[in-house]
Amino acid sequence: MKIAIDGPAGAGKSTVAKAIAAKLHMNYLDTGAMYRATAYAMIEEGIEPADAAKVVPALSKLDMAICYENGLQKVLVNGVDVTPYIRTSRISKGASDIAVIPEVRLKLVDIQREVANQYDIVMDGRDIGTYVLPDADKKYFITASAHERARRRCEEIRQSGQEADIDVIEREIVARDKTDSNREFAPLKQAEDAILVDTTDMDKERVIDWIIGDITGVES
Ligand code: DC
Repeated sequence: MKIAIDGPAGAGKSTVAKAIAAKLHMNYLDTGAMYRATAYAMIEEGIEPADAAKVVPALSKLDMAICYENGLQKVLVNGVDVTPYIRTSRISKGASDIAVIPEVRLKLVDIQREVANQYDIVMDGRDIGTYVLPDADKKYFITASAHERARRRCEEIRQSGQEADIDVIEREIVARDKTDSNREFAPLKQAEDAILVDTTDMDKERVIDWIIGDITGVES
């Protein structure tokens, strides 16, 4: 069983995908974390993620592995767990920039398909239903208005004790949507056979219950 969950930044895909995987006893792969880890590794090497001429040759030295600890996904780059360092706004932008480069995508998609060959999987990203797993059993495209996505992100940041400016966050989200949707190779796009779930006025429990009901055919 393969389930593809795509959608724009901050729509709550990973929360929903993680919950579905746990309820249905499937593995979960957050593909965004892989683009983030790649951007992080390049920045650590002094390479700008948008600089394809430098990123492409450096890719051969980058060994990426995915592992799970207590059900949580970790991304290892050259044996080092980079998961704690990849959730900053610098890395969000870097991931979106580096994801434009086809060689980066091909390398990461190979790993994603390898994981999907081994396990029943819920995979979230931008191009899972359209490119990575076009034969997925179920596909969902989860979205929400840019303002609502920024509001949720802002709340998360504030809850962690930091300050957040909703206008700045909304601008970053809109910029990322633009880069992710307009790139030439495997852009952010709803697959023709994906179900659109607009969560602007839905809380995450409702979204999770609705999708589980759709997959299992059992309403909760
Ligand atoms: O889901 P996320 O915000 O962690 O993803 C970070 C960036 O990675 C996103 O802006 C675009 C890129 N990405 C991608 O191009 N394709 C994917 N399947 C997942 C993420």
